[in-house]
Amino acid sequence: MNSTECGGGNPLSPPGEPESSATRIELPLPDDWHLHLRDGAALRHVVLASALQFGRAIVMPNLKPPVVRCDQARDYRTRIREALRAAVATAHSPVTASDQPPVLRCEPERRAWLLEEALRFEPLMTLYLTDHTTAADIDAAADSGLVHAVKLYPAGATTHADAGVSEVGRLGPVLERMQKRSLPLLVHGEVTDADIDVFDREAVFIDRVLEGLRARFPALRIVFEHITTRQAAQFVRQAEGPTAATITPQHLLYNRNAIFRGGLRPHWYCLPVLKREVHRQALLEAAVSGLPRFFLGTDSAPHAARLKEHAAACAGCYSAPHALALYATAFEAAGALDRLADFAAVFGARFYGLAPHTRRVSMLREASEVPHALPFGRGNSIVPLAAGEHLPWRFEGLIGAATG
Ligand code: DOR
Ligand code: ZN
Repeated sequence: MNSTECGGGNPLSPPGEPESSATRIELPLPDDWHLHLRDGAALRHVVLASALQFGRAIVMPNLKPPVVRCDQARDYRTRIREALRAAVATAHSPVTASDQPPVLRCEPERRAWLLEEALRFEPLMTLYLTDHTTAADIDAAADSGLVHAVKLYPAGATTHADAGVSEVGRLGPVLERMQKRSLPLLVHGEVTDADIDVFDREAVFIDRVLEGLRARFPALRIVFEHITTRQAAQFVRQAEGPTAATITPQHLLYNRNAIFRGGLRPHWYCLPVLKREVHRQALLEAAVSGLPRFFLGTDSAPHAARLKEHAAACAGCYSAPHALALYATAFEAAGALDRLADFAAVFGARFYGLAPHTRRVSMLREASEVPHALPFGRGNSIVPLAAGEHLPWRFEGLIGAATG
């Protein structure tokens, strides 16, 4: 099924006319502070899309089995780099032009240069917290130089979260060590109790878990991942101590109606699930606020189309191929294109103690259609977020040698 069946119409409808008349924008090379790259064949199909648009990405550890130790993170990083090299080699000699991401449909010299640059993409690794993680694991991670954060999935909260933490209150020694070693805690903020309404899970998590965590570990660096509610935006604005949040393109562009428009639409289903319009507006306000606590994290989470178009559809939106165009669309609708650069390329880097990139990218105002499906290995396809819709911005790629 594609997104235009069942008379669904176009769910991407940014409110009002764009305020800007810019036809081209430039910004420092952005980073993606929340990304799922998967493994194996799937990894080879998705990694280049991110490497062409982003300089670095915080890579989620929810593989099966999860990445719980440094040696696993190191091996995973090696597989990501190998997959990227393989994807770049394939992209050097595509079978047809339509096999290419749009940014590579350019002069051969420029394409070769963009592909060489994409090899500089840095996967920043994370570990997956379990009930068995120890303070010694945290020391090893902090000493490794390759682990940049540790991810908390409440057990059962989402895809591959069954090995997650069953009782956050028992993580005391581990969180204390993370605080001491300045290793950020990345939080999937949802309670999983069956009696809590699925749309309330994030707000209840703030009351039951996050407020307490923030107070008990005042110097712990916390990133509240993929926030979806007014309450979460408010919490992050007001929290004491080093607190930040990532915001996805789908939560900036859509409210929960998108999941039900003209039929059930699994490609708009992710966790935490899309919420009411009032929440989308609060997130957009936070994203364009200019506050350095809010930054880009796509949560691009690829699943094969057959597992999304399924009786028990997997949670996750695949936004990586056109992530920046989606963010530009949302920022422009809010009259805040000039705030995109900080959100996408500066604030996150600073929170993680890294320098923003000096390399720059450009985007062009040029309507382009999001493909209905993309190859995903082993006969599978994947349906990207906003498939079949037209975005007003197109990512042009790095500015520099052989720009033409
Ligand atoms: O929708 C989601 N998909 N939310 C998550 O937290 C995990 C992700 C995935 O890994 O597919
Ligand atoms: Zn995620």
